[in-house]
Amino acid sequence: QRQPIIAIDGPAGAGKSTVARQVATALGLVYLDTGAMYRAVTWLVLQAGIVIDDEQGISESGRLAIAELANQCTIELTPSQSLQSPVQVKINGTDVTQAIRTVEVTSKVSAIAALSSVREALVKQQQQWGQRGGLVAEGRDIGTHVFPHAEVKIFLNASVSERARRRQQDFQKQGQPIIDLQQLEQDIAARDWKDSNRTVSPLRKAEDAIEITTDGLTISEVTQKIIHHYQERL
Ligand code: C5P
Repeated sequence: QRQPIIAIDGPAGAGKSTVARQVATALGLVYLDTGAMYRAVTWLVLQAGIVIDDEQGISESGRLAIAELANQCTIELTPSQSLQSPVQVKINGTDVTQAIRTVEVTSKVSAIAALSSVREALVKQQQQWGQRGGLVAEGRDIGTHVFPHAEVKIFLNASVSERARRRQQDFQKQGQPIIDLQQLEQDIAARDWKDSNRTVSPLRKAEDAIEITTDGLTISEVTQKIIHHYQERL
């Protein structure tokens, strides 16, 4: 008998991470950021000097090397103490908490996440961690593929312009150089497209997921809605 699982999926910038962390804290569940895992593997691939060409894709030998990296890596996720900061991420012992959030990793991660070898390795790990339940897992394929029997499935969405605006505010808060809205909208739309159109486990709403459009809603309003659905189910 396992503890309940809340699955939260949705496109980049819909507010999944912040909301998932708040829901986990409020309900005393473990927060699992699966995007951080795909980012960590992407960082490892870039470190190894494997070329991910936007037009040409990845060579056959590159793919083999990536499969090997994904199968043999050790990923450690440690929940952070504060609600503000993301999880601490280590891959093969190296702390990559900051390194996986760079523009470079962000622009390459969808290509790496589209590889079936990478997905198989990471999904296996996620399912092992989730065996006993008691977690809020966030990603793109949680309700459809990783935990199809999750008690509560949420699909978080927001318009591209709203998501770009939030990303810009995040950069601002972190004191990073400001990227203009149009550029951010383009980047988000490009990542949406790649995530939704890949062959393996594309981003889509599970049939039994509850869709929440977060335009105009505060983080705490969204959090409350999810907690409400959770309590209703149990
Ligand atoms: O959620 P986050 O933006 O950190 O995810 C980074 C990328 O990792 C996504 O754009 C997607 O390509 C990939 N991803 C995925 N499946 C998941 C979580 C993330 O393919 N469950």
